[in-house]
Amino acid sequence: MPNSQLIRPLVHALHAYVPGEQPRIKGLIKLNTNENPYPPSPRVLAAVAAAVDGRLRLYPNPSAQGLRDKLAKLHGCMPENLLVGNGSDEVLALAVRGFVEPAQNATFKFKNARPSRAVVQYFTPSYSLYPVLAEIHGATKNAVALNPDFSLPGLAELKRGRNWDFNAALTFLTTPNAPGGRGYATAELEKLCRAQRGVVVLDEAYVDFAAENALKLALTLPQVLVARTFSKAYSLCFQRVGYLVGHPDLIAALHKIRDSYNVNGLGQVAAEATLDDLKYYRANFQKIIATRDWLTRELTALEFRVLPSQANFLLTRPPGFPASDWLQKLRDRKILVRWFSAPEVKDYLRITIGTPAEAAALVQAAREICR
Ligand SMILES: Cc1ncc(COP(=O)(O)O)c(C=O)c1O
Repeated sequence: MPNSQLIRPLVHALHAYVPGEQPRIKGLIKLNTNENPYPPSPRVLAAVAAAVDGRLRLYPNPSAQGLRDKLAKLHGCMPENLLVGNGSDEVLALAVRGFVEPAQNATFKFKNARPSRAVVQYFTPSYSLYPVLAEIHGATKNAVALNPDFSLPGLAELKRGRNWDFNAALTFLTTPNAPGGRGYATAELEKLCRAQRGVVVLDEAYVDFAAENALKLALTLPQVLVARTFSKAYSLCFQRVGYLVGHPDLIAALHKIRDSYNVNGLGQVAAEATLDDLKYYRANFQKIIATRDWLTRELTALEFRVLPSQANFLLTRPPGFPASDWLQKLRDRKILVRWFSAPEVKDYLRITIGTPAEAAALVQAAREICR
């Protein structure tokens, strides 16, 4: 039997998520995956090093209890409001599995099920993992365009048309948005959340670089969850720790379906130590925001169109050549940025905010390319 027949047709046809490149080229300035340019704090590195001993033979705490206790204190909630995952990617996947019916079930198996029970909804452009998660689950995707400047369409406009589903089983809202960088006002998000009858996940992966966050919505509205990560603002991509905040009923449902030991032990140690050293990280947020503002000014002066960003990256339309050519021209100068082929963003480059020296090298390379 050919191997392909052993694989589910859904998986066979799936377009998998494509992560940003992680090349091992010496001297490369890596501005392509929104990693933090600053290392974890010395206290975090020491805590991880101290945990590497014979205890590695033991299973870690199955629900990341110590970390959830600390997060509960930080966010003014209970540990029952929290689920920790293997990066926020895992908690986003759990939300799809926990709240969305595969389309076949919604239409055939459960007589009373409405098609919206199978809908995963999101705006475009936003995080390109959402459609993949929907496809893996056999759910129905509902992708609705943001306004041309990547702002959120108002409630009245969504009600008038655009095919927005107010009954969607699960809606992802990315704030600040990726790859656009815009942050959305909590008041605006609240209106949309209150109008949704299914679960809403506010994906706040970049929120520490933004002017406001919407955590209070997850702690007051029963169908709203907030997803956060230690990857971006807390320099811990390598350790894979993210979490969801929300109503204990929704959180308990997802605890039932996660892997027993879904967060590795060193990740738990690192994340807990991070929460003991927030001053260090808050200073880094300020440095990154200052570099973001400097880079915005410099690129604008070189006639790049730079979208307003509240994240640790800029989405920018370069002058002179197609963005895909810029990608290569920058790579030739050992600077790696990100380009997406999706029609809404194909004219743009996404540039992660690095150190001031990395940003200066990027501006220098851009000047040379413009000449
Ligand atoms: C919007 C958004 N959400 C979630 C993630 C996932 O982060 P992690 O799985 O590293 O926590 C990313 C990573 O790029 C992202 O851009």
